[in-house]
Formats: sequence, structure tokens, C-alpha cells
Amino acid sequence: MIKRYFLGVMICLAVSPAIAEQQYVAPQYQLKEKQIFIEKLMQQMTMEEKIGQLNLVSIGSDYPKPAIMAAIRDGKVGAMFNTVTKVDIRRMQDQVQYSRLKIPLFYAYDVVHGQRTVFPISLGLAASWDMDAVALSARISAKETAADGLNMTFSPMVDITRDPRWGRVSEGFGEDTYLTSRLAKVMVESYQGDDPSAPDRVMANVKHYALYGAGEGGRDYNSVDMSLPKMFQDYMPPYQAAIDAGAGGVMVALNAVNGIPATSNTWLLTDVLRQQWKFNGVTVSDHGAIGGLVKHGVAENDRQAAMMALKAGVNMDMYDNMYGKYLPGLLKDGLIKQQDIDTAVRNVLGVKWDMGLFADPYRHLGPASTDPVDTNAESRLHRAEAREVARTSLVLLKNDHNTLPLAKSGTIALIGPLADSQRDVMGSWSAAGAAKQSVTVYQGIKNALGTQATVLYSVGANITDDAAIVKYLNSYDKSVEVDPRSPQAMIDEAVNTAKKADVVVAVVGESQGMAHEASSRSDISIPQSQRDLLKALKATGKPLVLVLMNGRPLTLGWENDISDAMLETWFSGTEGGNAIADVLFGDYNPSGKLPMTFPRSVGQIPIYNSVLNTGRPFNPQKPDKYTSRYFDITNGPLFPFGYGLSYTDFSVSDITLSSTTLDSKGTLTASVTVTNTGKRSGATVVQLYVQDVVASISRPVKELKNFSKVMLQPGEQRVISFPITEQDLRFYNENLKWVSEAGKFNVFIGLDSQNVKRQSFLLL
Ligand code: NOJ
Repeated sequence: MIKRYFLGVMICLAVSPAIAEQQYVAPQYQLKEKQIFIEKLMQQMTMEEKIGQLNLVSIGSDYPKPAIMAAIRDGKVGAMFNTVTKVDIRRMQDQVQYSRLKIPLFYAYDVVHGQRTVFPISLGLAASWDMDAVALSARISAKETAADGLNMTFSPMVDITRDPRWGRVSEGFGEDTYLTSRLAKVMVESYQGDDPSAPDRVMANVKHYALYGAGEGGRDYNSVDMSLPKMFQDYMPPYQAAIDAGAGGVMVALNAVNGIPATSNTWLLTDVLRQQWKFNGVTVSDHGAIGGLVKHGVAENDRQAAMMALKAGVNMDMYDNMYGKYLPGLLKDGLIKQQDIDTAVRNVLGVKWDMGLFADPYRHLGPASTDPVDTNAESRLHRAEAREVARTSLVLLKNDHNTLPLAKSGTIALIGPLADSQRDVMGSWSAAGAAKQSVTVYQGIKNALGTQATVLYSVGANITDDAAIVKYLNSYDKSVEVDPRSPQAMIDEAVNTAKKADVVVAVVGESQGMAHEASSRSDISIPQSQRDLLKALKATGKPLVLVLMNGRPLTLGWENDISDAMLETWFSGTEGGNAIADVLFGDYNPSGKLPMTFPRSVGQIPIYNSVLNTGRPFNPQKPDKYTSRYFDITNGPLFPFGYGLSYTDFSVSDITLSSTTLDSKGTLTASVTVTNTGKRSGATVVQLYVQDVVASISRPVKELKNFSKVMLQPGEQRVISFPITEQDLRFYNENLKWVSEAGKFNVFIGLDSQNVKRQSFLLL
């Protein structure tokens, strides 16, 4: 999995906490191999100490620091999460030195889209289709995470999802298997580098294995029932890609898969993960998931739940300490074997070795004298990189009459509850980022304009006027501020502001907490309070630009009808406001493309690109009643997968194939010439899709197989070529064999999934 990088050390060496003050130098002994080291250590461990290694604890009101410190000294903790400063982490690691065997803890955190510097939410990162930008974000995240003394991030989250009702859509990379798999690999490689113990790297823990994004109805934590071919074809590859890239950890999903909760699913955790995919890192349960087996109705009580999870292959128990409570008794009663515990412990010790913690328990911490005085000091941020990445994530959805870019002159009315919200622009999993350091759209516009133009700001509406929703969103963490004025008073003020301006920019959408864990929605439109505001702004007759801030595809049919331009900005992070201003004023030409289909109505969900044709496909050119369609809506998405505009125009030539046939050893090349036919330089994403026309099982109408992001100067042409091999044409057949079948294939190339050129070839 991970490169070996140091000589083994004897574990029972006494290291006084004071050593944390100096640079720790690992003593070198003759034991050279990880395995030998771990076996020696295991021989010295009592059963309680072994079980302690399986305990992954979180600091919280129900488990305060002093109690955790005592448990560490007793050898009852294996790792921690939710402690994020060097000072705190060192204090915890110091306790290890008072334990009998002094086995270091590792420290994890949910660094999903940045640690101190917050990058765009993962869905926004995916919208960049820019692997260099994504790699940069993950490298910086790793660097800042390691600089806080942490060793592991619970990321990347690679759950494919085709249901935007699910709030955690924001945290993943969207609907597409190929795009998500590419991102999974890039993220893991960028977090870990060659060595997760390096000073600027951390270990990646991919999640949520498996199929968490496919919960019925988009309701969080809900169950999944799925055919095995679909599972392996569409949902499993991103996890496997992360593991192939060397991810040291896997987090087990909270949901059930075909009736069996992932947490007690031996087939998932042992047969597929360990035996098929050869994963040799550590598995961790999700928060309280072992106890959750009782609620799933597969365990009678917590004790049985602990037994089932361990036997299935869950190595570490996150949060609920079911292992600590029940494994000793289960072992005594012969319900689990010594070997079951030992296997899990070996994996935990293995990742600690890979994190370099046996060589130096204070790895990533260093001496206390190097601790930052202010953990959120400006100097610790990577603003330039955050701005660069955020710009790539923005997607231009509409731009009638070249409304955008805006001139840096005249008067701009900036309206909306999200226009000046430092908390919201950061997005939901903003780790240790500080809201006060994030740049809002208002600030970004002011920075861009200086004294060249006037910007007038008015909030215009609350995020929602539904008090029950505000209460829900604020139930654990007060993140939605409510302006006490009446909705009409706020709208009136905004309309007055708009009337004084040449153009209205309305920043509307969701608060960050609306697109998060436990935030499924049955209605994915912009809340009514903001729609009322937009209606009033439209009535002023001023050009209306919508800057959308949201963590999921929304239904935007009406907004699309009434606006002149729409820019999808997701939650774009610490530098979001500056990046958005860059695009609004044309200092950066937008190049993002949707990583998820935007439906017209929530009733169309699931709606995604790689669908099967059915026996009665709907044909928009020749609509017929007895076809697969809805009769009360225009069929098809509002904005398809892969869609996004630019301030320039591009043309794509017909496809040239290097051959009309392909054999199992050959490579066929599909090429197009892409031309920038407009007046500005700009980037676009050239997308390659393939269809297996006739196969033993019905295959999607189009599957993304490759893409290339290209930057072209005005008038510039470039030939973009994609190699296609037999391997690219494989799929999981009804017997779960990964095969290709001879016959006709269609190749499509375009700048989104719907406007494409087509060619065909034969696989021999
Ligand atoms: C629960 C979430 O499902 C998971 O993604 C996260 O890593 C853990 N909580 C820890 O915060």
C-alpha cells in the first residue's frame, strides 16, 4: 500500500512527555520489517490493550478531555478525531507516554474540502473537471492538516449519487462513475503523496463504503437495494480507485446494502474489500454505526452488534466504544476468536506504522515551540491557491445578450441573503476554517471594483421564512441568522436599492447547512422567501444576474426564465467572493461543467446521464404517448451533465476515428478539432462518451469514458484525441464478470453530454 520509510523501533521504550519539546529522534533497532515489528508488539499486548487500539474516540460533551486522557493512559484509546490543534493533540499524545506500551494514537479529522483554507465543496471541485486544480486543493489540505498535527483525513467522499434530494450530494463528486473515480485517485494521491508520514501529507480514509449515496428517496442514512451488475459497474469503481491509489483507510457506510447493513456486511468488508481488492489498511465504522445495527434490526443488542461488526471486518469502532464494552466478554464466551481481534489490531498498528508514528509519536506535531500562536493566523492560509481553484469550479448556466461579464463602472445592486454571508460561502464540511476569514461576494465585488464603480447592498430576504426549517437548521449549530424585519420590508428595501442601479446581482440559494449531513430535502427549489424577492427584483426591469450558492442541483426552471444570466458557484470557500467577482467582471472566463444533472422538477429524480434506453425510449423529435416519459413536464433535464458555458464560443468538428474496428490488443483513436470561435481566450472540457449498442445486458445510452480540459486563444484550433481500448469497453455482465462483447459501439464527443458528435466502430 504505502512505501516503507524507516527502520523499526522497539515499542516499550520510555519517552517522557518532555521529549515533545525537542525534535524526537527515533531510536533505530535491528527490526526492519513492519510485519515483524507489529508481531513483536502484539506479543506484548494484553487483550485489553488490543481492544483499546480499536477505539476511535471523539471529544464531545459526552466524552470530555480529562476522561479521554485517563483512558489513553490506561491504553484504552487507539485514535481520536475532532481535536484539531497541535496543543490539544500533543496533550493527548503526551498521555500515551504514561501508558504501559506507549503505543501512539493517530488523529483524524473531516478535512473534506480544506482545513484552515477552505476550498470549494467537493461538488464544486468536481465541476472544475480540472485534475490539477483538485490536486492542488488536496495537497494544500494535506499540508495544513499535517501542520495542525493530524495524521488522517476522513476524505475523499466518493459516494456516487443520482439524487439531489440528498444533502450530502455537496460532499461528493456527483453522479458519474468515471469522473468520480478519476477524482478519487487524484485526491488520495495528493493527500498521501508517496508517504503519508511526510511533513506535508496525511493518510486518506475513503468513504462511505458502500453505496451511501444511493439511499432510497435521497433520504439520509436510508437503505440501498441494487443489482450487483449496477453496483459494480456504477457505484463501486470510485472506492476501488481510491484503494488502488493507496488510501490507508476506509470508512464503512451507515446504510444497509441489499438488506445487510454495511457495518455487519462480511461480503462487502472482507470478500470484496480485502480479498478481491486487496485492501490492507484500516476500516473504521461511521459515527455510532455499530450500535446502529440494533436499530437496523439485525442485532438483538449492542453486544451482538459488536460481535457482528468485528467479524464482518470493521476494525475500529468510531464513537460508541461497543468494542471496549463487549469484546472482552464475547471473547470469554467464545463468540469471537482471538484471531478476530488480532486481525483488526494488526490493521490499526499497520496504519500507525505507515503514518510514521512508531518512529516518532510526535510526527506532524514537532516540538511545542513550533506551535502557531494563532491557529487561524492569516499567514497559515493559502489564499492564492484557494482563489485559483475556486474560479475553476464556477459554472455559467445562462448568459443572454452577454449580460456577463459586467462592466466595472456604473452602479451594481447586490442583493440576497447569501451575498454577504461569511459562514455560508465556506460550505458545510469546512473543517477548521474560520468564517471570519472568508471573502463574501459583497467583499469580493468591492475588492474588484475599488473606486471604479458603486456597489449597493441589500439583504432582501431571509434564507427562508419557514421558522420550522430555521429551527431545524440551527438545532446543533446556529448557522442561519434571521433578520427580524417583515419579508415585505426587506423586499421593499431591496427593490429601492435595485432601482438605483444599472444591474442587479442577486445571490440566492441554500444556506450551507441545507446541503450537509442530515439535510435531505423533498423540494429542491430556492426557498419561497428568496423567490418572492427575485420576483420583485425582476419587476424593476433591471438586468438580473443570479449568483447561485447551493450544495446540490436545484430546480431552476422559473429562475432560468426570469433571469438574464445565472452563475452556479456552489459554496466556493475562503476565497469564494473574490473568485466569483473574477468571473462576474470577466477577469476569469468560466470553464466549469456540471458534475450532476439539474432536473426541471424534483419528480424527475433520479435523472442522470448514463441511463438505459428502455424498450420504449422517449424521442423529443417525435414525442409519442406510449414512451418512457412524464406527460406533465418537458422531458429531460434543465441542464444536462457536463454542461457549462463560457464567455467565448467553441466549435467541435465531426469525429475522426483512426479505424472503424478495434481488436482486444489495439488502440483506436477518436479525434475532434476544437476551435475557439469567440473573441476571448477560454477553457472548455471536451468529453468522450461511449455506447455499447447491443450487449448481453442493456447498456447506458452514453457513458463518460474520458475528458480533456483545454485552454484556447481566440481563433485557436486544437485536435483533441482520445485513445480507446478494449478495456474501456468492458462492463460487469450478469455473472459479474468484467467483459467486453464484440459488436457495434457508438462514440460521442462534445462539450456537454447532450450536444455531441457521433461516430461508430466495431469491436472485433
Ligand atoms: C459521520 C459522517 O457520516 C462521516 O462522514 C464523518 O466522517 C463522521 N461523522 C466523523 O465526523
